[in-house]
Parts: sequence; C-alpha cells; structure tokens
Amino acid sequence: MTTSTQTLLLLPGDGIGPEVTEEARRVAAHVAPDLQIESAFFGGVSYDRFGTPLTEEVMNSARKADAILMGAVGGPQWDSVPRDKRPEAALLAMRKNLDVYANLRPAFCFPALAGASALKRELVEGLDIMIVRELTSGVYFGQPKTIETLPNGERRGVDTQSYTTGEIRRVAARAFELARGRSRTSKFAGVLSCEKSNVMESGLLWREEVTKLHAEKYGDVKLDHMLADAAAMHLVKAPKDINVLLADNLFGDILSDEASMLTGSIGMLPSAALGDPGTPGLYEPVHGSAPDIAGKNIANPIAAILSLEMAMRWSLGRADIADRIFAAVGKALDGGARTTDLGGAMSTRQMADAILKHL
Ligand code: IPM
Ligand code: MG
Repeated sequence: MTTSTQTLLLLPGDGIGPEVTEEARRVAAHVAPDLQIESAFFGGVSYDRFGTPLTEEVMNSARKADAILMGAVGGPQWDSVPRDKRPEAALLAMRKNLDVYANLRPAFCFPALAGASALKRELVEGLDIMIVRELTSGVYFGQPKTIETLPNGERRGVDTQSYTTGEIRRVAARAFELARGRSRTSKFAGVLSCEKSNVMESGLLWREEVTKLHAEKYGDVKLDHMLADAAAMHLVKAPKDINVLLADNLFGDILSDEASMLTGSIGMLPSAALGDPGTPGLYEPVHGSAPDIAGKNIANPIAAILSLEMAMRWSLGRADIADRIFAAVGKALDGGARTTDLGGAMSTRQMADAILKHL
C-alpha cells in the first residue's frame, strides 16, 4: 500500500462520458477510499463554459495528478467550432502536453462474450492482444498541417507524417517490455510491428529503428514486421496469432478500432496513455462520446471501469486492486450482466452495480 495521498483527476467530458465516468468513480471510491478524486470540465462542456476546451487550470491539475481518467469528448453541437477550439483539440493537447507517447489498447475477449463478437467464436475465444499505439507524433502532429489556396484557386489540404528515431525507439521499447511479460506460443508471439515501409519513408525508418533496437536490447523477444494493410486483414483472419501489435499514431488508431470489434463491443475497451516513468498516465475508454445514446443511462460503463483498472495497475501501483476489478468485471459478465450494446437490457448503473457486487 502506498503512503502519501494519490490523486485521480476525472475529466468526464461530453456525451456518455459523464455517465460512464461516474460509474468508474463509484468503483474507485469503493476499492480505494483513500484515493483523492477530483473532477474538472474538459472538451465541449469546457468550451461552452470557458470558451476553450482545455483551460490552463485543468492542464495544470492534470500535470499534478497521479492519473487522469477521461470519459469522452466531442459531439455534433461543436462541429462548426474552429478546429483549435474543438473538443478533440483538447484531447490532442492533453496527450501532447503530458507527453504520453505510448498508448496501450488491450483487446481482450471475456469468455462470456465470445459469442457476441462479429467473428466466429473459435477465432476470438481466448483472444488477448495488446496494441501499442504511438500517441504524440506522426501525422496527427507533423508540420506543415494546413489547408492552403493554390495560385490556380484550388485548395490543398496538407498533413505531414513525421517520426524521429527517438520517437520510434521509446514507444518500441515499451512494446518490447510489454511482450516480455506476456509470453505466447502463437505465430506472432512477441511484437508485431506495423507500418507501410513499402511506400512511406517514415515507415521505412520505423522498420529500421525497431529492428535496430531489437538487436541491441530485446533479442529475447520475437519480432515480426507486417505492412499495416496486411495487419488489418490478419486481425480479422487469425487475431489470436497476435500478441503485442506496435503501430504509429494513425495506423494504431485504425487498427485499435478494428480490434475492438473482436471483443464483442467497443463499449468494452479501455486504454492507457503512458509517458516516461514517474509522469502521470492518461486513461480513457476507446469508445467515443456516442451522442446518440448520451443521457439515456444505457451506455456500457465497462470500458471506463477497465480504464480505472489500468490506472490502478500502471500509474497508482495498485496491481492487487486492478486484478480485483478485472475479475469482478469477468464475474458480472459470467453472471449474465449485459448492457444493450452486448445484447442485454441493463442500464449503465445496473451494469456497474453488477460489477460492484463482486468487489
Ligand atoms: C481515439 C480517437 C481520437 C484519435 C480522436 C477523438 C481525436 O479516435 O482516441 O482513438 O483519433 O486519437
Ligand atoms: Mg480512434
């Protein structure tokens, strides 16, 4: 048990964010009553109140927190807001400012949900993939990034994919270290690194640097490379071949949405964004703000609760509590607990209660 008080900052955000984060808060208060839990406005709700989706004050609280648990940001009401004031801009700025470059997105199929996957049961039963997505560089942040008007009057949109050796090596190191703790015998038993080295210079550098780092420090871990498009195919053809999947910011974004469908529902998937040791981690459900079901108390709170589980494990040094939360989610599902996305009729609150019953 830790001695000094730890702080968890909640950023419920928009859409279903507040509903699912509230259930994670109840779980946190139950399993770790000593944890200091704070809450702040973030995303669209912050823009409506303060004219900016991320205030300086909230950014400072985030820097001081031990872990940050975000709900979701965005919604159609902010579609016409200038890009730098959009809810999504707050999320990107938060990631960049905290320098949380390694985004861990597990795709785990709970036994009770093997039948709920879009794929055949035998393809996903026992599935346990960890996607490691680079989160603070690549085409999301590369400069120039602009829409310009050409002399002939046409407009041109420009984004820049760029990676330095340091940016590649630090996220790849995380992937190799994770793979060390997850021994497998499957086809890609260690790290499967994905890029488009056949057409992109940044992809070629990615492959070269990952290969070099592997030879220098991680020779005990199996390393395979695959073009990102082929990896997209492999994820639905034989997902259990894959253990740790490493990808850049954009490919990781796409491949992690794809992987979520293997587990039954995107409402199941948590994520952790980690920087260097000793810096606060940012935790968020992979699902978005789902404005169509917001405020109805039907959203699945499991992704948020499992994001809390990851915060306990990766930032708060409470692996024992994390294990208990994970087991409680499994037991609730075994007992038949299902929100509508999983084909059931439980409300957000009822699903969280079913989990709390096992804590
Ligand atoms: C995600 C989301 C974000 C991203 C959006 C909301 C900016 O899709 O976390 O996967 O593209 O990174
Ligand atoms: Mg995404």
